[in-house]
Amino acid sequence: MNAMSFADTAPVARSRTSDPSNVPGVELVDISVRFGSLTVVSHVNLSIKAGEFFTLLGPSGCGKTTLLRAIAGFYRQFEGSISIGGSVVDDIPAHRRNTGMVFQNYAIFPHLNVWDNVAYGLASRKISGAEAAQRVTETLEMVDLKGYEKRMPKQLSGGQQQRVVIARAIAIRPRVLLMDEPLANLDAKLRVRLRNDLKILQRSLGITTIYVTHDQEEALSLSDRLAVISGGEVLQVGTPEDVYARPGTLRVAEFIGEGNFLRGHATGGGGRTTVLLRSGATIAATGPGSDCRGEIWVGFRPQDVSLHPVTEASSGIVGTLRARTYLGSYVSYEVDCGLDRSISVQVVATAVPEGMQEGSQVALRVEPAQVMLFPGDDKAVEL
Ligand SMILES: Nc1ncnc2c1ncn2[C@@H]1O[C@H](COP(=O)(O)OP(=O)(O)O)[C@@H](O)[C@H]1O
Ligand SMILES: [Mg+2]
Repeated sequence: MNAMSFADTAPVARSRTSDPSNVPGVELVDISVRFGSLTVVSHVNLSIKAGEFFTLLGPSGCGKTTLLRAIAGFYRQFEGSISIGGSVVDDIPAHRRNTGMVFQNYAIFPHLNVWDNVAYGLASRKISGAEAAQRVTETLEMVDLKGYEKRMPKQLSGGQQQRVVIARAIAIRPRVLLMDEPLANLDAKLRVRLRNDLKILQRSLGITTIYVTHDQEEALSLSDRLAVISGGEVLQVGTPEDVYARPGTLRVAEFIGEGNFLRGHATGGGGRTTVLLRSGATIAATGPGSDCRGEIWVGFRPQDVSLHPVTEASSGIVGTLRARTYLGSYVSYEVDCGLDRSISVQVVATAVPEGMQEGSQVALRVEPAQVMLFPGDDKAVEL
């Protein structure tokens, strides 16, 4: 997408030069949404900054779409209050909230050509003539669809159709762009390309964006901040780095990235924590939560484990290499360590030590700083 040319000309882009910290974004105060007696969104509080790319991330059915539609005004919350740009919008109908919405299924109008699809929202806002034409031209240029004005949707690829839908949402220059899994229907390569384009576009427009996805890679790569949602509740809010490296609970740690999560018993003092696993092996922890004591969950990422030959001095985790999966840039292993579940290990393909075969005995090493501890009564989440 060709966002930079738009940034040079569009008033919406120039407005970014005013101090964004003074501009309110979207405030959700104690929002709950019910369908009949079923509570789908429960006491959500979020403060989204103006210009921010904010993602609602969670498994299917956790209430993301419902929350997004409440912000758009399609559903009325059961309790709580929503503000956009500093004004409470609870009693303002959807079409007057000035949000641009990109729905989960493209929602391109099949009977309208590209130009008319993009111009659609402008007409209903009484923008017509030269101003509308200029907006459509600019917006199509931004999404790299200049020259496609007369094409009908069926003459476009999936990615192009989705660009049209995005163009239609931003042509109205909404205060907030709301996107519901906009890339979910595209193939993997296109998804990554459009994702990068979308990020450049959003940054250059400086438009407050609330993005819904169940895809953690998408959330991590796109967001300024994200909220991890499960069962209608916000579990954690933070930057992608915060949430990935310092998950606040076991449920967040399990949902974000791959991980090994094991029961253990933590002891220690003076800044040293040792975890005794049920196999009798010990592991040192200095990472997040390493002040936990007693019965705990210990967690570490597969890519933070390295494999070594077993020596007499190996006091850490020792096991037998089981499944080996070659994945091109890396190799993944399941290692049977006499625990209630096997440990997943991921090694960069070029760094696989000599002689590592299925059936080999190996010693596992994890940097203590990469070892996270969670209280023993933390609940695991079934995803
Ligand atoms: N209009 C509706 N009426 C009744 N239940 C609904 C409605 N929309 C969604 N739900 C239920 O609310 C829950 C959350 O749905 P949704 O917000 O679509 O989740 P997500 O977008 O995270 O997959 C689901 O259990 C779903 O079945
Ligand atoms: Mg949904």
